[in-house]
Amino acid sequence: MVIAVASQKGGTGKTTTSISLAAGIARKGKKVLLIDIDSQANASKVLLPDYQKIAVGQTIHATILDNKPLPVHKSPVPNLEVVPAHILLSNTDIALTTAIDHREARLKNQLDKIRGQYDYVFIDCPPTLSWLTINAFTAVEKALVVVSPGYFELDSIVQITKSIKEVQEFFNPALSLLGFLFTMSDPTINTKTSLQILRQTYTGSVLQAVIPRNTDIRDAHMVKKDIFEFSPNSKSALAYQKLIKELFSL
Ligand SMILES: Nc1ncnc2c1ncn2[C@@H]1O[C@H](COP(=O)(O)OP(=O)(O)OP(=O)(O)O)[C@@H](O)[C@H]1O
Ligand SMILES: [Mg+2]
Repeated sequence: MVIAVASQKGGTGKTTTSISLAAGIARKGKKVLLIDIDSQANASKVLLPDYQKIAVGQTIHATILDNKPLPVHKSPVPNLEVVPAHILLSNTDIALTTAIDHREARLKNQLDKIRGQYDYVFIDCPPTLSWLTINAFTAVEKALVVVSPGYFELDSIVQITKSIKEVQEFFNPALSLLGFLFTMSDPTINTKTSLQILRQTYTGSVLQAVIPRNTDIRDAHMVKKDIFEFSPNSKSALAYQKLIKELFSL
């Protein structure tokens, strides 16, 4: 199964969710690939200890700009491999906007060659609806939309839902919504109201598992570990565990 983890809003927990799902499933013995297509390269920096030494030609930049095969790197997590991102990805949208070939399918064309080697592939998307995100939506079967509490956060769903429909129509009929994942949940009225509105508006599409706001996540990233290695009994680890069970029955 190939899944894009996306949201149009920044800082909702996409990268954390990508890392946690990928590492959590890999730790259960499944073969997993995480593709980082965000120029911030946050997932790459957490999962690849030697990230700073990786040249731009050994990142997703080579695939997106030069149609090169996906550069796969081993991570310290057993069964988990990573295609890292690069800061120069921030310039690729301009190049893709003027490209005349199948600019939406550069990731898909290369992923098709290796997807059979993995049980699960996750793509960590940037917080924009750029050609990079369109490349992700064109390459996957499912989009997992990450939502955190707040008015702007809820509002951003309208646009991303529209984009998913457009990519489905123009580039990838196989694409569908895996669900909305509510993250950064805390005991405030704002969280309660946000979740209520989300469940009322998108009945049936909101996942049962809710990820709590939990500092263990930030601490884990600080020491470049996934939450299952850092603190397997933390609230967030248990919540991501629940999500893995709900989505994949693992
Ligand atoms: N459940 C959580 N509880 C507390 N902090 C969290 C949680 N999930 C993520 N964080 C922290 O919040 C920040 C944003 O999370 P993350 O990077 O996963 O979001 P993102 O959607 O990928 O952001 P961007 O849009 O910039 O790519 C990070 O510092 C991360 O460590
Ligand atoms: Mg991110």
